Amino acid sequence: MEVTYTEPELEKLSGQLLDNFVEEKIWLFMGEMGVGKTTLIKSICSCLGVIDEMTSPTFSIVNEYVTEAHEELYHFDFYRMEDQNEAINIGIEDYFFSGHRCFIEWPEVITDFLPDKYLEISIKLVDVNTRHLTAAFNERNL
Ligand SMILES: Nc1ncnc2c1ncn2[C@@H]1O[C@H](COP(=O)(O)OP(=O)(O)O)[C@@H](O)[C@H]1O
Ligand SMILES: [Mg+2]
Repeated sequence: MEVTYTEPELEKLSGQLLDNFVEEKIWLFMGEMGVGKTTLIKSICSCLGVIDEMTSPTFSIVNEYVTEAHEELYHFDFYRMEDQNEAINIGIEDYFFSGHRCFIEWPEVITDFLPDKYLEISIKLVDVNTRHLTAAFNERNL
């Protein structure tokens, strides 16, 4: 899937992503700082009917959300993580293999722990209001 979008189109785009990749649990969000990864994740969360953001002890790395349908989902931002041991300490693999959706910013930092199959979403800046997104299912060749 490939699309160029502005912020008012985010809601529609989020719905399309959820429809197209309904089975995928591990979503990687790639793209430079400020390109719109968090903005897109928030929009997808609202599409999923997130009602509650649970406070987490490791808030800076993982946010846990609950939807109206009582589904849990996890939003990670590894940008500030110093080393991969921190990922082990928060029980990263328990999250990734929980069967709940995981939305991951800066997955480049924790490649050792990523599941073999994931949805990869890349966002690029077109201009100040416009972004280009590609989304594809990926399988790592080990
Ligand atoms: N089409 C767009 N999609 C997403 N964000 C956009 C778009 N156009 C402008 N923006 C702005 O770009 C910024 C993206 O910030 P953010 O989502 O925090 O980026 P990241 O998480 O990738 O660092 C926000 O200020 C947002 O308002
Ligand atoms: Mg962000």
